[in-house]
Formats: sequence, structure tokens, C-alpha cells
Amino acid sequence: MNYRHAYHAGNFADCMKHALLVWLVRAMQRKPGGMLVLDSHAGTGFTDLAGPEAQRTGEFHAGIARLLDDPPAPLAEYVALVRGLGLYPGSPALIRALLRPQDRLAACELHPEDHAALRRRFRGDRQVSVHHRDAWEALGALLPPAERRGLVLIDPPYEAADEFTRLAAGLVTAHGRFPAGVLAAWYPIKHRAPVRTFHAALRDAGLRDVVAAELWLRAPLDAARLNGCGLLLVNPPYGFAEAAAPILDALRSRLADEPDAGSDILRLAEE
Ligand SMILES: C[S@@+](CC[C@H](N)C(=O)[O-])C[C@H]1O[C@@H](n2cnc3c(N)ncnc32)[C@H](O)[C@@H]1O
Repeated sequence: MNYRHAYHAGNFADCMKHALLVWLVRAMQRKPGGMLVLDSHAGTGFTDLAGPEAQRTGEFHAGIARLLDDPPAPLAEYVALVRGLGLYPGSPALIRALLRPQDRLAACELHPEDHAALRRRFRGDRQVSVHHRDAWEALGALLPPAERRGLVLIDPPYEAADEFTRLAAGLVTAHGRFPAGVLAAWYPIKHRAPVRTFHAALRDAGLRDVVAAELWLRAPLDAARLNGCGLLLVNPPYGFAEAAAPILDALRSRLADEPDAGSDILRLAEE
């Protein structure tokens, strides 16, 4: 496990994932019943952007640093959360900040140091459980939640060559265990071919009600670069496409410098 998210915290991909995540948690909270948010690849919870890892790459300069001042309206709640939490928040910190008393967070992290940091961060928090366990195994073991309502964020590091295949299998497992669950999976867009294969695998597996929000900063033609990213939703909450489009537009207008940047909401399988 070589991937350490601290090098990439706050980059454009984090901003996209987290801005949509905030909307998703809020959308799930339209109903009063409690829910579980399962963050299968949680990271450390917080990153010091002044620390050596983030400073080494400087990726956040082209990401969150461009959003902090006078954020466009669709990004306002997300940016306010980032500002309000002090250190730069990762997905479990954002989710925790949004939980109501009836909600809970289960966060899995396999890297020993990152898991230890995450555990320290949430020690004594009765609404958060931190697990040192493999995400793919946890999708079977921790679902369905007792609440029968939940959001699952799957955010792998894509270190392994077969990560898209594992992700497709993980989504099928999670959906099989928890058919009513809202599943959100982040994926990189370097070039189109692996993304098309991933989408086709989900269609072939028979998953219904699948959409993907995608943002690319330049045409995805160079397989060696992170040109864009997507968030794929199974069972998206009502109004996702209508809400995601202006969020993606706002991100593109602030974060993209190239004329061939773009964004899209794709419906991959009908309800
Ligand atoms: C992209 S980062 C997560 C970032 C975090 N979700 C966020 O948005 O702030 C992926 C994380 O997954 C962890 N990881 C990698 N393989 C894993 C596995 N099989 N099970 C659980 N965690 C894993 C890595 O150590 C890394 O911290």
C-alpha cells in the first residue's frame, strides 16, 4: 500500500467528490429516519495542507485553494464546511460534520498509519466506528445497516491494475447486500477506454438506476495523467442530476484552465 492521500488532498478530484458528497448526505437527510454512512476507503480524516506531503505536490493550489474565496452558490455549503473544520477535511470528517444525532458513520481504512490517525481522530465519538479492515470485505460484512437506510462511499486509490474490476464487483456485492442503499463510487478519468469498460460491466451485471457525474479539466487523452474524474451513483437520491449539474459547472468554471474541459451527467441504467 503505497498510496497516501495526503499528497493529493484538496486537489480538483477531492473537491468534486466532496462537493457531491455533501449534497448526497443532505439529500438523504430529507427523511427523518437515521442512516448509516459507510466510508469504505476513508483515509486519515484530516490533512494539514501546510504539511510536507501536501506541500510536496502542491495539488491543492489548483483545487480547494481556488474555491475558498467567494465560492459560487452551488459550492457554498461544501466550502463553508472546509473553512469551518480547520485542517483540510477528508471524506470522514465532512460526513461526521453533517451527521444528525440519529445518523452514524462507519469508516474503514487499511493502511496502518492512516487507520491509527483516523481512530485517534474519532476516539470517544459514539456516532463513529473506525475499522481496520479491507473495504471490499467490509462491503459484504457491514451491509445492510440496521437502519435500513444508508449511503456508501467507495473511494479506492487505483493503485492496482484491476481496481475498476474490483470496484464493479464491490458495487455488485454492496447492492446485493443492500438493494435500497445509495452507492457512490469515485473513479479516475485518465482516458476513456477503462471508464467505458467499467460502465459496461455494471450494465452487464444488471444494476438498475445508475448515473455518473463526470468532470474533466482537459480532454482525457493522456493515459498517464489524471485528466478528470467521475462519481458513479446507484440509487441516486431524487434530484441528483439537477443538483449535480450546477455543482460541476461551478467546479469547472473555477478549476479548469483548458478550453476542452467539460462535465456531464450520464444515465447508465434506467430505474
Ligand atoms: C483516495 S484515498 C481516500 C480518501 C478519502 N475517501 C477522502 O475523500 O478524503 C484511498 C484510501 O483507501 C485506503 N485503502 C487502500 N486500499 C484499501 C482497502 N482494500 N481497504 C480499505 N482501505 C484501503 C488507502 O490507504 C487510502 O487512505
